[in-house]
Amino acid sequence: MSFAVNPPPAVRSFPFSRSPIGRTPRVSMVVRSGAGVPIATAAALPILTKLQNDCATPLPVLRHVADAMATDMRAGLAVDGGSDLKMILSYVDSLPTGNERGLFYALDLGGTNFRVLRTQLGGKDDRVIATECDQVSIPQDLMFGTSEELFDFIASALAKFAQKEGGKFVLPDGRSRETGFTFSFPVKQTSIDSGILIKWTKGFAVSGTPGKDVVACLNEAMKRQGLDMRVSALVNDTVATLAGARYWDNDVMVAVILGTGTNACYVESVDAIPKLNGQKTTSGRTIVNTEWGAFSNGLPLTEFDREMDAESINPGEQLFEKTISGMYLGEIVRRILVRMAESGSLFGKHVPERLRTPFTLGTPNISSMQQDTSEDLEAMVVEVCDTIAKRGGRLAGAGIVGILQKMEEDSKGIVFRKRTVVAMDGGLYEHHPQYRRYLKDAVTELLGPELSNNVVIEHSKDGSGIGAALLAATNSIYEH
Ligand code: BGC
Repeated sequence: MSFAVNPPPAVRSFPFSRSPIGRTPRVSMVVRSGAGVPIATAAALPILTKLQNDCATPLPVLRHVADAMATDMRAGLAVDGGSDLKMILSYVDSLPTGNERGLFYALDLGGTNFRVLRTQLGGKDDRVIATECDQVSIPQDLMFGTSEELFDFIASALAKFAQKEGGKFVLPDGRSRETGFTFSFPVKQTSIDSGILIKWTKGFAVSGTPGKDVVACLNEAMKRQGLDMRVSALVNDTVATLAGARYWDNDVMVAVILGTGTNACYVESVDAIPKLNGQKTTSGRTIVNTEWGAFSNGLPLTEFDREMDAESINPGEQLFEKTISGMYLGEIVRRILVRMAESGSLFGKHVPERLRTPFTLGTPNISSMQQDTSEDLEAMVVEVCDTIAKRGGRLAGAGIVGILQKMEEDSKGIVFRKRTVVAMDGGLYEHHPQYRRYLKDAVTELLGPELSNNVVIEHSKDGSGIGAALLAATNSIYEH
């Protein structure tokens, strides 16, 4: 167990039974010291009971969220600003086919880490010949610095990576390197290779970027670094994940990220997008980035969510994200534990100082606490983690059903009467087995066993790196 807060040494063992997923939690009410003296009482129980009620996601709540998601999607497709969901047009009208060839780069900025990748594509027969990647963590101060500082940091990491190119990676003479740029923040795309940052999310507050074309910011920084590279596709991480997964499987129609932040995109028919005003694409389809993190309709929120939101750098925004994504789950749990500790029911009179520090509990802590079966773990803490993870996973599942439902309503049979794949990625989804289980359970509950059999929810690990490189290839200025 890697829980940041140390329990007092006197707590050794107490009767504790972990609640199996989906069953009513059972919490031991008396915690005893080694000498058998009760040191924690049932004082926290009312807090837990209220929490579980406030966070409950029975079928009607899930159904409401799925329906509201579908309705908000339509409103956002009708007109810009029509709903919480921005329904951003990605300008990705054709997905990779497998015929892509050549050397392509990808850079991926979306959270606390920044990744660079290069891949040599060999067409239908050889597919991905070789891939290399590097990961650099973004220093905390850059998340609050200036746009120039952030983009210079990125361009310099990219330049260093490009210098190490060799071996199986071959750039034909006379060509510039091309890259896909995965930029995982809400961007108003103006073309496949340009887009204006609407606002930062996930704790970034870099000055000078909102309102600017992020590709221009990167190009200027690459120029300052003397790096000859062209951005041929600017994409959201969901879009890159969809492209990466689709390269291997034609049935992929939706992609969802559940990591630090959350979002979903899907394949939409251009006829279903009134705000396109009749513009067509050659394929008749395009990928829409929902930016579902901003969804807010009918969420079962608690006082802890409201307090966290009010103190965040973007109050009132990204409520779905704040309820279901990795950046926030630990923080919600921490706030609940502080309340319980203050009631004297967790650590005696003592409230550990670290517990008072915002964002000290990460989602990995939540996940490992939930999996901890050792006797010295406070049962209450496990229940709190489970309650918050369960609400998050089930709401994420309802969101997915909302998207599928909207697609199915528009063209009967396109989703539910055939195999349809939802490509999933992100650290929360990858590393939190209970969350995954809750998500899948909610999808099955909503769709019923028959329809849910056709919906395959599949982990597409790091599909977004390759996906961005593939989209750079599809949109290359050179023949391929
Ligand atoms: C951003 C999205 C992104 C998601 C997952 C959200 O905070 O607004 O653009 O796709 O995080 O990274």
